[in-house]
Amino acid sequence: MDFIQSAIEKARRERQLRGGAAQPDQSVLLEGDAPLPPPRRTGDAAQATRRAADPIGERDALWAGLPELHLRREDLERQRVVALGGGSEAATFDIMRTKLLQQMRSNKWRRVAITSPTAACGKTTLALNLAFSLARQRDIYSMLVELDLRRPSISKVLGLREARQFAKVLEGNAAPEEHLLRHGRNLLIGPSAHRTADPAELLQAVETGRMMDAVETRFAPDVMVFDMPPMLVSDDTLAFLDQIDCVLLVAAAGSSTMAEVTRCAEDLAARCNFLGVVLNKCRYLDGDDAYGYGYGPGSYGPGY
Ligand SMILES: Nc1ncnc2c1ncn2[C@@H]1O[C@H](COP(=O)(O)OP(=O)(O)O)[C@@H](O)[C@H]1O
Ligand SMILES: [Mg+2]
Repeated sequence: MDFIQSAIEKARRERQLRGGAAQPDQSVLLEGDAPLPPPRRTGDAAQATRRAADPIGERDALWAGLPELHLRREDLERQRVVALGGGSEAATFDIMRTKLLQQMRSNKWRRVAITSPTAACGKTTLALNLAFSLARQRDIYSMLVELDLRRPSISKVLGLREARQFAKVLEGNAAPEEHLLRHGRNLLIGPSAHRTADPAELLQAVETGRMMDAVETRFAPDVMVFDMPPMLVSDDTLAFLDQIDCVLLVAAAGSSTMAEVTRCAEDLAARCNFLGVVLNKCRYLDGDDAYGYGYGPGSYGPGY
């Protein structure tokens, strides 16, 4: 754990020196250090500046030049991605989106990570539903990035025929334009079709943070959603936390134990802005396939 802690501290310092968003425990971690430059311009301020300098919609033009996804609602619904077209099925995710946007706006956060204790809790399903729900908010430009590079699945769920590998962009081996896809006007998706050789090294590399910053600066999304690896399988997520502003933990009713959820929630709360636990796979609505997402802001327990 000493290694992880020192890697996180190093990455956190790097990010702040680059102008990254402030984290709540920075004064403790940086005690005794030289004064830092002002934090990265985030949220409203950055958007206002960009829009003033960009009256003709440079961002719209840049985004419009990316390959467009043509998704079929029925195909996605079979994979439990129900937020593409709105309606009652999407309501849970729309409520979650609205809560999330309020928290992110008021704190000037832009990057949210979605993780879980173990695999198959529903991270990718939630990340896609949240992304499509965000996309129906016409004034919000969002980007979804696949970072569960040991078990990538966005490509599969979306039924993509052409392999895109956003991990190559993070490795510095490709331009983002080659691996980003666009849904509608205001959602970009960076899938990685194949497993990556060294996911831990990639997620922990300081250079990866720089690449992510460069992508953010170029495409200027209002919200970035990261589909992360599970926390109890590797230290990839913990090591990457410094790159994000806030995090949601997905637990699966019936398979995640209280001990796992508690351990992950405590780790997350100690290291970043922890938004809460989403309890997935609750079968209390209309039978076995029903969704059961609860979203407990900043807390967790049997009620969520
Ligand atoms: N609410 C839910 N109810 C039932 N099955 C679900 C639910 N959410 C996700 N699943 C299914 O669980 C499996 C794992 O989900 P996935 O989102 O890929 O998990 P992760 O990304 O955490 O590994 C998938 O087959 C998915 O369709
Ligand atoms: Mg997944």
